[in-house]
Amino acid sequence: LYRQIEGFLRQGILSGSLAAETRLPATRTLARDLGLNRLTVETAYAELQADGLIYTRSGSGTYVLPRFQPAAADRPADFAWPLWQQEEVPHTPSLTPDELLAATRHPQPLSLAIGTGDSRLFPVKDFHKIVQTVIRRDGIAALEYGDPRGYAPLRRTIAHVLGSQGVPTRPDNILITSGSQQGLALMAQLLLKPGDEVLVETPTYGGALDLFRALNLSIVSVPIDAQGLQIDHVEQQLQQRPIKLIYTMPTFQNPTGICLSTSRRRRLLALADRYNVPILEDDFVGDLRYEGRAQPALKALDSGGRVIYLSTFSKMLMPGLRVGFLVADGPIYNRLVNFKRASDLATSNLTQRAVEAYVTIGRYQAHLRRSCQIYRQRRDAMLTAIKRYLPGVQIDPPRGGLFVWVRLPAGLSSSQLLPLACEAGMAFAPGRDFFPPDSLEDNALRLNFAAQHPADIEEAIKRLSSALHRYSNGFHKVH
Ligand SMILES: Cc1ncc(COP(=O)(O)O)c(C=O)c1O
Repeated sequence: LYRQIEGFLRQGILSGSLAAETRLPATRTLARDLGLNRLTVETAYAELQADGLIYTRSGSGTYVLPRFQPAAADRPADFAWPLWQQEEVPHTPSLTPDELLAATRHPQPLSLAIGTGDSRLFPVKDFHKIVQTVIRRDGIAALEYGDPRGYAPLRRTIAHVLGSQGVPTRPDNILITSGSQQGLALMAQLLLKPGDEVLVETPTYGGALDLFRALNLSIVSVPIDAQGLQIDHVEQQLQQRPIKLIYTMPTFQNPTGICLSTSRRRRLLALADRYNVPILEDDFVGDLRYEGRAQPALKALDSGGRVIYLSTFSKMLMPGLRVGFLVADGPIYNRLVNFKRASDLATSNLTQRAVEAYVTIGRYQAHLRRSCQIYRQRRDAMLTAIKRYLPGVQIDPPRGGLFVWVRLPAGLSSSQLLPLACEAGMAFAPGRDFFPPDSLEDNALRLNFAAQHPADIEEAIKRLSSALHRYSNGFHKVH
């Protein structure tokens, strides 16, 4: 009975037929009129009050509360945001390459724009089983917050794997983060304040640039060549400016796929030492190697405390796990842990346990081996297709990672090419996304070779080639 009364009044309030500030009958009166117990009516009112639909004014009665804010779609044209919102600078996000591609409604769109491996290879079934096993095995413990440093067995496993790769470390120096993006954010927020200078290689990872800009840092760019970051330029900048952090991806760099040569690695470390600057080493795809010998990580060459090492399970496994980690030694480690705790308490405990189980039973290594095998073939397919269909461009064939960086013939802009490529049914990441505004270059583009089958890669490159022809044959001059 009380639910019937509650439902009737709720519908009246939500539909507007009971306007704001309408006085409802007193519970005693309504109960009498309906021939019910007063408690029944009071219960109905209590439910409506708990949902914020009515309120009582003491000594006066029960009233309908002003209506909720209408949903976005119903907002009138003259709707006024609260004052603090009106002070916000309007920001309309531009379409991503994939959104642009989707908007063309091409019957068989092929994206080479994404930043991860092929989601069709994600080990969904294995992971499903492992999550079930972990919940059965650990019960409640898997669902508590857990240690802010991260699940201890996972830190032990990571320390073990890193040790086997020449980066000796201890579990107590590892901090599990919610993706390596969080590791980047923790470091930047902890060590730098607005206006401080951070040195990046250009081109560089767009997500790092977004972060540094969001934190109002001043971005100092140093170009890379086929050997990676140009160390002479780094030294010049260190001489001229109070650089507070060097952010670098020495292995299969995003977006170029280039590796920093071993001698430059040593020189970079020596500079960091001389100028007392921390290095943030982002090793996001270090394990996706298709040929050649592994070079030592900067962290492996660090005699202690100069390099903070970042890595992630996003590229080698699955990005939606949001599990990454950093390795730091010295007093900075505990500061990072405290800051991590203050930021989000801890990374998902259940997911960490599942990742640990997955790695420990050897599935991760098997998955990596398989991914490397498949991605190597796809890289080769892309290099062949580029040679065949894009003779006018320049590339440095990558020996690992996910990307090929394509330099267009002089004077062409990848941003202008992008809409034409999307019309032709393919998307890429335009070069401008990888440069800070003051050193913007737009003559190159990034292609992901890992996310599509070889035949689709060939087709996508053919489409890119036709878009490029259309573009260089004067389309851009007209528009
Ligand atoms: C170079 C690099 N570092 C870090 C990240 C962040 O990845 P995640 O937070 O998923 O670990 C990415 C993602 O694209 C990346 O390309």
